[in-house]
Amino acid sequence: MRKEIEGKSRIWRAARLSVAPMMDWTTRECRYLHRLLSKETLLYTEMVTAPALVRGRALHLLDHDISEHPVALQLGGSDPDELAEAAKIGAEAGYDEINLNCGCPSDRVQSGAFGAILMQSPELVADCMAAMAQAVDVEVTVKCRIGVDDQNPQDVLPEFLEKIRAAGVDRVTIHARKAWLKGLSPKENRDIPPLDYELVHQMKASFPDMHISINGGIATLEDAQAQLARGLDGVMIGRAAYHQPADVLCAADPRIFGTGEVSDPVSVVQDMLPYIEREMQRGARLHQISRHMLGLFAGRPGARQWRRHLSEGASRKGAGPELIEEALDLVIARAA
Ligand SMILES: Cc1cc2nc3c(=O)[nH]c(=O)nc-3n(C[C@H](O)[C@H](O)[C@H](O)COP(=O)(O)O)c2cc1C
Repeated sequence: MRKEIEGKSRIWRAARLSVAPMMDWTTRECRYLHRLLSKETLLYTEMVTAPALVRGRALHLLDHDISEHPVALQLGGSDPDELAEAAKIGAEAGYDEINLNCGCPSDRVQSGAFGAILMQSPELVADCMAAMAQAVDVEVTVKCRIGVDDQNPQDVLPEFLEKIRAAGVDRVTIHARKAWLKGLSPKENRDIPPLDYELVHQMKASFPDMHISINGGIATLEDAQAQLARGLDGVMIGRAAYHQPADVLCAADPRIFGTGEVSDPVSVVQDMLPYIEREMQRGARLHQISRHMLGLFAGRPGARQWRRHLSEGASRKGAGPELIEEALDLVIARAA
């Protein structure tokens, strides 16, 4: 019990800043890079569907490096028993948290009745969460929207939180916009429905004992700090953390967590080299790893040369870690 409580307070702290789950982006290679940039920030996997784990036994989807902790597994699904089983498999694989996706609007996901469509079925979500909580010792959490389609977020969001809290969930991340299930692509659904940060702040006032993280359109550490200063418990950053990882993550440890030092993207690249070598020996292609590193110097001297050298060279046959070293030399030369 004591171990559980300690684990929870550690992860509640880590959740002050998190990198959002992003399909095809927050792969294990990406998370390895992000962890070198910040030791404290909570990292999320891409969504892994419960059927893939339970029926498909696709356990390779859970591969991760020990250095990634604290790291949360995001699940997609809507069957309580299957989600409970998937959560168990995830916790046994070593994940620190199991999160349920109630925010993703893609068609494929709608057809399986997972993701944002679950905002219409809070009772079912509560059943799923209760089953997951029962199955694992690690914390189970939800990532949701403020509503879907013609729902009124002022009504449905508090009802949703009430129901999941009653099922044992006390940490949630709210993407502060609706999802429109028909007519918008997943990409449009991340930009077009308007953001309503105030509603998320109202939820914190209404549910003061819950750990509430805000997500959507937060692009800098300053913005994250401002949200925390207004009383939210956590901030989740998606696209900005992926495209400008150094801007978002290098100063996160001292500024958000009050520990450690500002990390240096040049040393982080150097620390990636042995990892890249190791992964390539196990069969990875350079591009699989370097694609997540393209934005590392965004806004800094040499950014263009870095990006160009990697994007032109990484898919060539035989490309290896020396390409990264060459690109780094270009950055260092520009910065000198
Ligand atoms: C490429 C991409 C893939 C995404 N995949 C997922 C996913 O698997 N699960 C999920 O809950 N959200 C997913 N999202 C949504 C993000 O987690 C986040 O909620 C959204 O991008 C808004 O945050 P941002 O404005 O900081 O990017 C994805 C976003 C992007 C850009």
